[in-house]
Amino acid sequence: MKKHDQSQNASKAGEKLQNIRQHLTKPVVLVGLMGAGKTQLGRMLAAALEKPFVDSDDEIVNAAGMPIADIFEKFGEPYFRDGERRVIKRLMDENAAVIATGGGAVTSTETADLIWRDAVSIWLHADVDTLYKRTAGNKKRPLLNNDNPKGVLKNLAEKRNPIYKKADIAINTAQGNLREILDVMIDELDRYLEQ
Ligand code: S3P
Repeated sequence: MKKHDQSQNASKAGEKLQNIRQHLTKPVVLVGLMGAGKTQLGRMLAAALEKPFVDSDDEIVNAAGMPIADIFEKFGEPYFRDGERRVIKRLMDENAAVIATGGGAVTSTETADLIWRDAVSIWLHADVDTLYKRTAGNKKRPLLNNDNPKGVLKNLAEKRNPIYKKADIAINTAQGNLREILDVMIDELDRYLEQ
């Protein structure tokens, strides 16, 4: 790309970010399956918007003082889901800027309704093979610590995609590098806020 084009693109991106900052009155909440890129892209989006980033999983881990896999093992999934529901409600009440949620957050109707109503929601999605490749070998996710993690992801996609689809914006993260996907997120957010 020529230098002139590069600087024109940069100033367009700057305009879009400024526009988003001006019009954003709600938190941006990222939803989607494990491995969709919620934490990484959420952090990058927050940095681009010069706003704080929070990850609901991290908040739960900090509050419980133990990793998610241990919370599941010691107290069970319903206990984790209850903590998740309370943490997301608190983050939304505090009007946190960019929030990455755990993949199962929207399975609580209360949490999902709160997100659809009081946030600009972005569904990050990718095909199961991509999600599987990205999550393989990481022991932090108790639902995938078994002998058929790909099958679990496939099942979760079937169950949860109809819920995630309710998000305001949907972005495919299977193609392109993180920087390119971030640019798409910024474009879509800008377009959404201009409606
Ligand atoms: C879960 C997703 C995880 C974490 C927990 C359960 C799920 O978060 O909350 O392991 O039910 O999909 P990520 O989506 O950030 O991996």
